[in-house]
Amino acid sequence: MKFGILTGGGDCPGLNPAIRAVVLRAHQKGHTTLGYLDGWKGVRDGLSRPLSPDEVRPLINRGGTILGTSRTNPFVHEADAHKVVERLRLDGIDVLVAVGGDDTLSAARELARRGGHVVGVPKTMDNDVAGTDWTFGFHSAVAVAVDAVERLRDTASSHHRAIVLEVMGRHAGWVALATGLASGADATLLPEEPYDEAWLFERVRVGARARGFALVVASEGISLGPRRGTAAAKDEFGHELLREREVGAELARRIEEATGMETRSAQIGHIQRGGSPELFDRILATRLGAGAVDLALAGRFGEVAVLHGSEITGIPFSDAVGTTKTVTPDWLDLLHTFDA
Ligand code: F6P
Repeated sequence: MKFGILTGGGDCPGLNPAIRAVVLRAHQKGHTTLGYLDGWKGVRDGLSRPLSPDEVRPLINRGGTILGTSRTNPFVHEADAHKVVERLRLDGIDVLVAVGGDDTLSAARELARRGGHVVGVPKTMDNDVAGTDWTFGFHSAVAVAVDAVERLRDTASSHHRAIVLEVMGRHAGWVALATGLASGADATLLPEEPYDEAWLFERVRVGARARGFALVVASEGISLGPRRGTAAAKDEFGHELLREREVGAELARRIEEATGMETRSAQIGHIQRGGSPELFDRILATRLGAGAVDLALAGRFGEVAVLHGSEITGIPFSDAVGTTKTVTPDWLDLLHTFDA
């Protein structure tokens, strides 16, 4: 068989180990792999190159994606969809492995609906893909965010300040949740809960009284009320680009005004998406990449390799896309054990 592979959507640590696993698993079973560049854009525009076992072997610890990525949606215009189907046929691809989050996997589902042979590998630092217990990229991103809080704690305690750390997480607060839990923040704000300003200010005052400083973790996705200024820009999948909202800076302004405590904010943004994948992400990406090849070899096209408990299994695209996996009440209950 000839495999094709693409990585789409926001990059995250673990993509290269996943590419490596797909190529080497396919090679082990006597098959070859063609890599498409920059996500669905590469399939649409015919940008690709063969991936050899020797090239991918060293990728286990490499951040980013050697294939490049984009947020291109090839199914917005029928002419592009036609190009995708035709390109796969011209390249002689027997099965395409789409590595991505909800958007990339939704496009893969659409390809499968049109008769294409495609399997999926879920990834995202947001950990918000339905149908899988964890996505790779998440643990590595949270490790960066927790390290940031540790550093902010040093400077906050020295200056007797409050500091707000804004973390990524477009629709779901998993990154903020895990960062808040693992760093012992005074308050953690997630998009899954209504913004409670009185509670936030009280948490800052409690921290200030107890230790002379306070640490707040906020997800970029929280709502602080109606947006000011012009309408937000959107990507090809219709998602608002959050980078200009600066909720961390806005929270810092509000905290300082309400509590009188000198307050700063930090936004780690894309720093969370770079760097070498953590152990958990290396292993998960490796297992999912190999698992996707195994699904294809078993003729289970139209499925996504996922983690259920400690097992890798396959589920239909329709069970993995279209719903965002948000933070569940039991996690919220655990979080509020520590900031009540
Ligand atoms: O979806 C992953 C993610 O990292 C979100 O958490 C974030 O809002 C978004 O991507 C940022 O996208 P971009 O890389 O296009 O700025």
